[in-house]
Amino acid sequence: MQKLVIRGEKRLSGEMTVQGAKNSALPLLAGCVLCSGEVTLKNCPSLSDVFASCRILNCLGCKSRYHDHCVTVNASALSECAVPEDLMREMRSSIVFLGALLGRAGECELSFPGGCELGPRPIDMHLGALAQMGVQINEEFGVLCCRCPHGLHGAKISLSFPSVGATENIMLAAALAKGDTVIYNAAREPEITDLGDFLCSCGARISGHGTSTVAISGVSSLHGCEYEVMPDRIAAATYMSAAALTGGELDLKNARACDMQAVIPVFEQMGCQVFTYENRIFINCKRPLKAVRTVRTMPYPGFPTDAQAVVMAALTRARGTSVIVENIFCSRYRHVDELVRMGADIKTEGKVAVVEGVKRLYGARVRAADLRGGAALVLAGLAAQGETEVENVCYIDRGYENIEKCLRDAGASIVRVTE
Ligand code: EPZ
Repeated sequence: MQKLVIRGEKRLSGEMTVQGAKNSALPLLAGCVLCSGEVTLKNCPSLSDVFASCRILNCLGCKSRYHDHCVTVNASALSECAVPEDLMREMRSSIVFLGALLGRAGECELSFPGGCELGPRPIDMHLGALAQMGVQINEEFGVLCCRCPHGLHGAKISLSFPSVGATENIMLAAALAKGDTVIYNAAREPEITDLGDFLCSCGARISGHGTSTVAISGVSSLHGCEYEVMPDRIAAATYMSAAALTGGELDLKNARACDMQAVIPVFEQMGCQVFTYENRIFINCKRPLKAVRTVRTMPYPGFPTDAQAVVMAALTRARGTSVIVENIFCSRYRHVDELVRMGADIKTEGKVAVVEGVKRLYGARVRAADLRGGAALVLAGLAAQGETEVENVCYIDRGYENIEKCLRDAGASIVRVTE
């Protein structure tokens, strides 16, 4: 087991390069299954979830290789349509391999992704949409056996909720399906736009990705391409929160402000100065933080649920009362108890968390229970008096590339210790 040991109260400053987006790289890696030529993905973050996806690709007979933020995948020799259960369990988001395998091979076998740290992770919208496209789905002992006895065909699909994963799965399945597919009430996240642009670079015929109506005309095959993964908007929000919590200033390179239109104003309401450029965000947080009346997580372009925990960490030190409403996941406050152990004053009731700013946080031994909650604990440790130990770093490594090096290079006192 590994933990991060942080000595707090050090102001962050300097330049930081934001990693490629985990939540774009994962569906793009699944999308490689559709391609009969070689794909090169650049700016791919070095994350355990990315390596898990590469392992799945290799199990399927697609040769994948990760080297220096670049992944090459050759899926021409795809030989398998079943994703091993241990790999499915390792990463719930591997459910997007379902659409890609159905698109390429017309069949797929994988275990239910299972719920965990954020509450149940149902996939009813994924399965309902694929069934409309001609997929026969049998569930036996937690394993989904999917076949297309009469081939995969396009459909008009209306999502009851703009699910990111369901939108991705439908796009991946529809790219090579017979006929046209339209997704109504599609997710509009920038990662959806990235996936659509990637698939179009491989020869897919997709339009409207990034809006609530996506149209896909199936083609017979997809070739390879070279594609650059978009910047990680949640990692950028995380490091902005680190600057806010330490009263520092950071110059974030490879940060796309246009993806963060709902996040940046929250930091400005806290009293931070934010200057945005083409691919850079400069944040200066020299003034004491102010509470933010209400932060509501919503589907894009609303405030992202993935930034909820890290912004809450900053609000624990903001003068006044802030209210957070988590509308996307039903159990995304597991970091609250740990923040309270560090002296934060937070009360939760269902979807609502009320944060009373405190003068000081105190170092403590805390435990990450999920990716973004774990990052929030690290940020709180940066501001806390004394030493903080954050255990279960494996959760954090799923989504943050070398978080301790990024923070240490900006002036934090943080080391990784293997127990
Ligand atoms: C993606 O998860 C992201 N993961 C999540 O990021 C992110 O929090 C989420 O989108 C929302 O933006 C990846 O991209 C790998 P959803 P996903 O389908 O696709 C319910 C992180 O920290 N739902 O939009 O699973 C679901 O339970 C991760 O980087 C159904 O009920 O999110 C949830 O309450 C965490 N039935 C809500 O919709 C379904 O069939 C949003 O889920 C599908 C979803």
